[in-house]
Amino acid sequence: MNWSTYIRQAHRWLSIIFTMTVVANFVAMAIGTPPPWVVYSPLPPLFLLLFSGLYMFALPHTAARRGAHSVAD
Ligand code: HEM
Repeated sequence: MNWSTYIRQAHRWLSIIFTMTVVANFVAMAIGTPPPWVVYSPLPPLFLLLFSGLYMFALPHTAARRGAHSVAD
């Protein structure tokens, strides 16, 4: 596995963790007023998703710069 495969895998797992923290917020709000740590729990995974996502977004461009061929070639 190369570097970008690890980043994609991390993005996939982070998306699951992020989704669970959002669901936890809905559950906590149904019960009452959620504590601040529940309210803010989606932010760390979302922050990491942003960077791993931006990295994946830039991948085709950096590959082109290195002289690689895209799938469309
Ligand atoms: C925060 C900013 C985010 C950015 C910039 C971003 C960007 C990206 C990019 C560029 C890809 C690759 C698409 C491709 O295959 O060409 C991707 C894949 C994906 N993203 Fe995001 N994403 C973000 C947030 C999220 C969130 C919030 C979720 C779900 C909760 C999510 C779930 C996924 C999943 C499941 C994939 C497919 C991963 C795989 O191929 O295994 N992303 N994202």
